[in-house]
Amino acid sequence: MQLSVIGCGYLGAVHAAAMASLGHTVVGIDVDEQKIAKLSAGEPPFHEPEFAEILRAGLDSGNLTFSTDYAAIADADVHFIGVGTPQRKDGQGADMTYVNAAVTDLLPHAKRGSLIAGKSTVPVGTAARLAEQAREVGVRLAWNPEFLREGFAVKDTVDPDRLVYGVSEETRDEDIATLDAVYSSILERETPRLVTDYATAELVKIAANSFLATKISFINAMAEIAEVTGADVTQLADAIGHDVRIGRKFLNAGVGFGGGCLPKDIRAFTARAEELGRGESVAFLKQVDEINLRRRQRVVDLVVDSFDGQPFGHRVAVLGLAFKPDSDDIRDSPALDVAVRLKGLGAEVVSYDPQAMETARRAHPQLAYADSLDEALDGAEAVVIVTEWKQFKALDPAETAAKVARPVIFDGRNILDPTAWREAGWTYAGMGR
Ligand code: UDX
Repeated sequence: MQLSVIGCGYLGAVHAAAMASLGHTVVGIDVDEQKIAKLSAGEPPFHEPEFAEILRAGLDSGNLTFSTDYAAIADADVHFIGVGTPQRKDGQGADMTYVNAAVTDLLPHAKRGSLIAGKSTVPVGTAARLAEQAREVGVRLAWNPEFLREGFAVKDTVDPDRLVYGVSEETRDEDIATLDAVYSSILERETPRLVTDYATAELVKIAANSFLATKISFINAMAEIAEVTGADVTQLADAIGHDVRIGRKFLNAGVGFGGGCLPKDIRAFTARAEELGRGESVAFLKQVDEINLRRRQRVVDLVVDSFDGQPFGHRVAVLGLAFKPDSDDIRDSPALDVAVRLKGLGAEVVSYDPQAMETARRAHPQLAYADSLDEALDGAEAVVIVTEWKQFKALDPAETAAKVARPVIFDGRNILDPTAWREAGWTYAGMGR
């Protein structure tokens, strides 16, 4: 099929290349000329496993092109909307500027009878509003939320655990048939496919992310209780996780969640529910957010306490900047936030991350960045792990002790074995253990 993807950020660029890899002819559109130039040259603008390969393969096959000109979408049967919905600068709600602009700008070029398939995470009610606008020029609209995780974006796109189509009553059969044709190779594997109305499809995405955020904050709340009772939250998580109704996934206590989705999505959901007069239904999400933000301060407090409240001038190695491993994304990153907070308190912070150094440096040029893990550790009076990269998990306690000035470690992701580190002479503190 002929497809267009509007917005070539994380979601859009991966979707475009993934759809080309499934055999479709795809044009990716973005207003950012630099981004389009990079993608056209086969250079990924972000770090994502497997993305470079499918990008290059798509370009080489001629199936995948990129453009800043909306005229390039004229032949497309389906237009995916993959632009961002960041948090508004003046509030908690989603900034809809990019989604609205994408639809307004594409409609004059879209052929009659083509289908817009929204993938962006939007406030419930958006699809119905945009569908009206599209209908005026004979274009259909469906909402087809995306559940990709960074670090697994390609896999999640070509092999998702479910497909959700939010379709209109009037063009239901046609919309389903169009989306089935796009995803035919995925559906052949009997991937569950749920057909819903617009509102349900929009809510599925925001509910899924709210649930995941709640799960993480739940275990972090237990970590707070563990800290005053001497319990170990990782053992607690293992024990409750054996109950299949609960499950062990997303029960890792630590410095909490960040990234381009969970934090802004729970805030946008709260704002939308309040607009709908149902603020009380999701009022708990405010606490989910608060618990999450408290964990960042908790690790900062632990570091400060280790210097008897006087961190000024003490060298602290902060290991991790990305909001999660296998990503260079620093949006709302707890790791970067911890580095910035410690620096703000006067500590001599030296940060290291295997992938996110460039993105962090651009956002926070005032921080000191080490060129290697060893350089970060060299002479450190405290080591703080804030992103669960494999390299940090694999650190050897004895070898690491030889590099630092003072063997004090704060395991903000609970990835180390406390016994092994203590036996090697370290003062170890995890989160809730
Ligand atoms: C999330 C959703 O998982 C995905 O389905 C959706 O499409 C987009 O948002 P992502 O932002 O890539 O994906 O990150 P995710 O893997 O969900 O992790 C989010 C944050 O939670 C990270 O900062 C991670 O470190 C943290 N986390 C995750 C925990 O603190 N504990 C856990 O147990 C799991």
